[in-house]
Amino acid sequence: MTVSFLTQGPIDRDVFTRIIKALRTTGYIVLDEVFTLPQLQSLFIDLKTTDSEQFRPAGIGREQAQRVNQFVRRDRIRWLDASYEPVVTYLEWMEQLRLRVNRELFLGLFDYECHYAHYSKGAFYKKHLDSFKGNSNRRLSSILYLNPAWQSADGGELIIYAPDSDAVVQTVLPTFGKMVLFLSEQFPHEVLPAKCSRYSLTGWFRINATDSVTLDPLK
Ligand code: OGA
Ligand code: MN
Repeated sequence: MTVSFLTQGPIDRDVFTRIIKALRTTGYIVLDEVFTLPQLQSLFIDLKTTDSEQFRPAGIGREQAQRVNQFVRRDRIRWLDASYEPVVTYLEWMEQLRLRVNRELFLGLFDYECHYAHYSKGAFYKKHLDSFKGNSNRRLSSILYLNPAWQSADGGELIIYAPDSDAVVQTVLPTFGKMVLFLSEQFPHEVLPAKCSRYSLTGWFRINATDSVTLDPLK
C-alpha cells in the first residue's frame, strides 16, 4: 500500500507564502509545524532503523577537497534513500518549495541534495557557511529536526549568525519537526555540542554551476 503524506491532508500553501516572504526580507525562517506527526515519525523510524554502519563521518568541502576533520564537525551522515515512501513525499514537498522559490525569487534552484545527520553525545559543528569555496552552488539550506523529546538542557542548538557581523540572529533548539531554511551563502552558523544523540534531515537546493569549462559535480 502506498501512503503519501500529501494525501493525508492538503499542503499548507500558506507556509510557502510565509517562506517566500521571509527569504525575501530576512533571508531565513524557522518553522514549527510543517509536517504532521505521522510524517515526522515515519522519517524518524527510517533514520533510526538504519544500520549505524551506514552512517559515515561527514566531510568538509567537495570532491577531492572532501576530507574528514574532527575539529570542525563530528556528525555522521547518510544520504537519503528515495525509494522509501515517506522520503519520497518529503522530497515532493521540497520540490513544491523549489518551484515556488524559483517562480517568485528567481533563484534558479536546480536540484536538492539531502542526508540524515546524527550528532552523538558531545558532537558539534563549528561556525561555517554551507556554500563551498570555489564552488558555491548551494543556495538554500534546509534542516528538519527529528528529536522526539528534546529539552533545552540537551544543548545542540543551531546558532545562526548575521551575514556581516558576529551577531547572533537566532538560536534554534532542535525540537521534533522544527524546520529551518536560510540562504546558504549568507548565514554563517554552528551547532553547539549536543548532550545526547541529535538527529536531523539536512539538505541543500543547488544551482547548476556547469559552464563551458567545468561540469557541475553531482555530489
Ligand atoms: C550542516 C549544518 C545544522 C544543524 O549540516 O551543514 O549546519 O542544525 N547543520 O544540524
Ligand atoms: Mn551547515
